[in-house]
Order: sequence, then structure tokens, then C-alpha cells
Amino acid sequence: MPAQPAGAARRPEFIQVSRPDATAQRDELARGLLQDRPAIAPKFFYDTLGSKLFEAITVLDEYTSTRTEAAILDEHLDAIAHACGAGHTLVDLGAGNCAKAARLFGRLKPRAYVAVDISADFLQQALRDLQTRHPDVPMLGLGMDLECLPALPPQVGQGTRLMFYPGSSIGNFTPEGAVDFLRRVRAAAPDGALLIGVDLLKPAPQLQRAYDDALGVTAAFNLNVLRHVNRLLGSDFELAQWGHVARFEAASARVEMHLQARSDLRVQWPGGSRAFRAGDRLLTEIACKYTVEGFDALLRRAGYGQAHAWTDALRSFAIFVAR
Ligand code: AVI
Repeated sequence: MPAQPAGAARRPEFIQVSRPDATAQRDELARGLLQDRPAIAPKFFYDTLGSKLFEAITVLDEYTSTRTEAAILDEHLDAIAHACGAGHTLVDLGAGNCAKAARLFGRLKPRAYVAVDISADFLQQALRDLQTRHPDVPMLGLGMDLECLPALPPQVGQGTRLMFYPGSSIGNFTPEGAVDFLRRVRAAAPDGALLIGVDLLKPAPQLQRAYDDALGVTAAFNLNVLRHVNRLLGSDFELAQWGHVARFEAASARVEMHLQARSDLRVQWPGGSRAFRAGDRLLTEIACKYTVEGFDALLRRAGYGQAHAWTDALRSFAIFVAR
């Protein structure tokens, strides 16, 4: 963390470590669309409108995980902070508006705070606001793809790190992908800890409603990916030709979100095209759900030792601290 001039109000520092490469994104999208089972990676949901639609999802009656995670943190903050230990650099993976980390500050008392998101610009306002509330904590905003982990720039410093990965974003990986990602998170904090939020298995109708709400916000979030892809790839997806599908697949314990063609159609982009028959599907997201025991085993596969978990009374969400 940078030294600040004596007497001056502390300001967060911002570094853009990596930027999405437009050609690589186009290649990735075209490859995904041409697969036997066509797919668009969920990271493409989050353009400006997609991020706002996701925020709207988090306040829907049917989508309880964001509120439940916050309630568990509030109720068990003392025990969670104790398990995390003191005096670390809090590294917030996918920080967004930094609201989740902000709830922890009073009790966790981090030595420094590092907010990581794909764009350092997204972090500017949130980090400045947080800095005014916590003027003594050095803060750094890092614009980087989490795929770059375990590499972190030297400005993060060498202190013990507490890696924070809330919101059950880990569910958007396959279990194998989650193990690989968590190994890299661990490698970025070898003598530190991990604080992670995980959505738990619950009855299928409840899970299905969470991803197919009555207002149609999740349907809009899903369809919006096609607008984003059209901009990035130069494709001609017509949104009215596609419908939102969300299904809980019991065999793989995951919700799958798809876009389904309403009629026979062809999608074209510079250098490629693909025909879809009515009913064909494009996979846009998986959201894996775990039991407490299942996620504990996954943490061990990723190299973590002892883990503690806290859940709500209905056991619908869990927060783990692992070392
Ligand atoms: C970001 N991620 C954890 C959300 C989830 O629940 O998988 C994204 C989402 N997709 C549909 N609704 C919410």
C-alpha cells in the first residue's frame, strides 16, 4: 500500500492490472456459440444494464440468498471475525459496490482493504465513500480479471490476507472449476484465510422460482446477455426470438439457465453464423448448490484445512471460514 503524505486525508489508490481483450472476447464468444452444446459464459451478463438487473434480482422475494447471507453475517459477525483472525489485508474478490465488505469493517478491522473488480473505474465511487468512513484503512482498487489469480500486484503488500468471496459466486463454476479457482485463491494467500458465501441445496421448486421470478427480472437479465454479445461480437441476435428457461437439475445439484429459440432461426456475426431449430437452447449459466458437508469436502480438495460454517435457521445459505 502506498505511503500517504503526513496530515493529508487518505485517498484510495486505483490500478487497472488487466483489461478485457476485445479480440479474445470475440473468439471466446464465437467458439462458445459454435460448440455442440452452444453456450455463453456468465461473465458476459454484466454490462451496465446487466449489473443493474442483477442488483434488482437481489431484492426479489424469490431470490433470498443475498439477504440471507447478510443476515448470517450480521448475526454471527463476532464468531466469524474471531475465526478470520485480526490484522489482515481484506481482499474482496468481485467487490462491485463494496457494500458486503463495508458491513464487516467495524468488526474485522482490516489492516488494509483491496477491492478487486473487472474495472477499476466501477470501484471509484464506492471506494471513495468507504474511505471517508474509514480514513485510517489504506484502500486499493484493482481492475483485474479473477482469472489472473494467484498473481496480485506488489501494491497489495505482503501482510496476511483474508480472501473474501461472497454471494455464492463460487456456484457459477462447476465443482471441478471451483476447486481449481479456490486453489488459486489459496495460493494468493498462503498463510491467510478465506471467507466465502455458498448457497445451499433446497427444494427444487424454491430454486426454480429463484431463477425464474414472477416479475421476469431474471428473464430480462438472461436475455440482456444477447444485447451485450451483439455489441461485443457484432452478432444479430433478436431478443424477441428467444425465451428464458431455468431448470433445477437434481443429478448435478445445479440450476441451469438457458435461452431457448422460439422458432427456426440463424444468428450471424462477422466471420461466422449458426442455425438454431425451434426449441434449441443456449446455456448461459450454471448455479451449483451444495450441502455444508459437500462444500467442506470441496474446500479440502482445494487444499484448505480446518473450516467453520455458519448457516441460517433454514440451512438455505452458509458462510465458511477456511484456513
Ligand atoms: C452472481 N451469481 C452468484 C448469481 C447466482 O445466483 O448464480 C447470478 C444469478 N443468476 C440468476 N440470478 C442470479
